[in-house]
Amino acid sequence: MSAQRAKTPPTPPLTRRAALARLAAGAAWAAVGCDESARGAGGEASAGAGMGAGAGMGAGAGAGAGAGAGAGSDAGAAPPAALPPEALPARFPFGVASGDPLADRVVLWTHVAALPEDDAQGAGSAGEGEGAEVRWLLSRHPDLRDPDASGAAPLRAARDAGGCLKVDAEGLSSNTRYYYAFEHHPGPGGGGVTRSDVGVTRTLPREGDLPDDAALTLGVVSCAAFNAGYYHVYGALAARDDLSAVLHLGDYIYEESRYARPAVRDYEQPGEARDLASYRARYAQHHTDSQLRALRRRHPLIAVWDDHEFANNACPASGGGEEGAAWAARAADAKRAYHEWLPTRPTPAEPLYRRFELGGLCDLFMLDTRMDGRDPPLGPDAAVARFDPARRLLSPAQERWLLDGLSASRAPWRLLGQQVMMSQLQLRGAPEASRESAVALNPDQWDGFAAQRARLLGHIRDEGLTGVIVLTGDIHTSWAAEVSLNPSDPALYAPSGEGAEGALGPSGGALAVELVTPSVTSPALAGTTEAILSLLRTANPHVKWLDLTRRGYLAVTLSREEARGEWWLLESALEPSAPPPTLAAVARVSPRRARLTVEEVGS
Ligand SMILES: [Fe+2]
Repeated sequence: MSAQRAKTPPTPPLTRRAALARLAAGAAWAAVGCDESARGAGGEASAGAGMGAGAGMGAGAGAGAGAGAGAGSDAGAAPPAALPPEALPARFPFGVASGDPLADRVVLWTHVAALPEDDAQGAGSAGEGEGAEVRWLLSRHPDLRDPDASGAAPLRAARDAGGCLKVDAEGLSSNTRYYYAFEHHPGPGGGGVTRSDVGVTRTLPREGDLPDDAALTLGVVSCAAFNAGYYHVYGALAARDDLSAVLHLGDYIYEESRYARPAVRDYEQPGEARDLASYRARYAQHHTDSQLRALRRRHPLIAVWDDHEFANNACPASGGGEEGAAWAARAADAKRAYHEWLPTRPTPAEPLYRRFELGGLCDLFMLDTRMDGRDPPLGPDAAVARFDPARRLLSPAQERWLLDGLSASRAPWRLLGQQVMMSQLQLRGAPEASRESAVALNPDQWDGFAAQRARLLGHIRDEGLTGVIVLTGDIHTSWAAEVSLNPSDPALYAPSGEGAEGALGPSGGALAVELVTPSVTSPALAGTTEAILSLLRTANPHVKWLDLTRRGYLAVTLSREEARGEWWLLESALEPSAPPPTLAAVARVSPRRARLTVEEVGS
């Protein structure tokens, strides 16, 4: 990077908060989302204000929802998980995790602590004697007998990764539940063997594994600022026994403490994470929460990052107000810490975007809309510049990979797990002919990269691709929308339920549907007036349901006949104990028709 690149930009980027401030004019509206460039605006001023900072940890893994979520892949095929309560030996203080399952392998994770007695034994800087290693074993049985796979890694591997250790357990059977654990072997004269907690995971089904009437369920989460609330959402997902995997769509950690309004528990390290040690410290503190550990112990994760694993509004060229060499070094440290703590298969040198095949029922494309080709945030000229065909959210290589992969997919469902909202989100709609008059609420989303979105949607249309579901996080609120080239242009989109589809075909020009998961803890809106909801619905006829105030998670159940998205929402994440999430809405879509039917529950 040149020194010139390191200069402060002359004008501040048009941020999500600034954009949403337009909507706030004349309304008691608090901004939402992960863009916090304009400090002090908005905020959640309701329940929880006045709660002491540094309040206790989460309420444990038992606060679950779960019932009524439909038949999962385990239904009738495997015994329920029988994990003993968390024990957390001092050698393995953050438990275990698994992730990136394929049909024949899964990544296993743990963190191995160096203990005071290690040095007392004169074992040197590595903390253990010569020959110290970490062994792992994986079995179909909760007591780990008759292991299907096992291995060992030198303790040095964990020390090089800040204590974290990942292995790829290969040669496994597809569509199978496995139990696993790690063991610390200190070497000759180093004392006894310590075993970690036992985790449970499962491999993905191969084509042919699933009967025609099978269904798979995925949990979907995002945005979990540690100091903004308690991880009851994670606890609820951990209590479910019907999930094939949990997709984490980013903001797994937050690099800075100011995103909580109010803060219900403190970061041990105030300020902003900026280097490897401080990013590692952030991850470590997030994992002191028992409900996050329970989630990781109970389900395989499939994760991608958003900006706050790096810095606010991060992109390859800048983030958190930094550019140039300083930003490059910081981003590299953040990327390294992410891969140390998340059970991902790619290395920091490899792209994060990747594909998963779920038994011929679904192909899942996990995108990196953040750190693989994204152009910097727009400035005051965003209204015009967002249509610039040169602007990119995805690198050319990732865009090509996605388009080719979508075309090659033969599954009835093609899922895109990604960070920022793809649907147009407008304050005022406009046909393409006068498109600059359409006011986009948030150019940090795909709205700020309209040409690349049009290429993607045009490809879906031209190739006749069906069953495309976009799963999104980032915006701390819940949305169900039909995705088209322009929802304000009657020639391109006819809202469902109006009987005016005509030449646009059975989907009325909709090319995909989008289901947006709310935040785990990060601030949503303090309140929503009917006037605001009415404004949003009028300008966005493709939005079929939204909730702007509650945290929670999304569960997506796929069968050959239907996809169902369920929003399970919390009343509050601000208290250490809370009732489990309740079902708030159910969206349904058939694989051949990108139309949403949404039923609101309990209102
Ligand atoms: Fe977020």
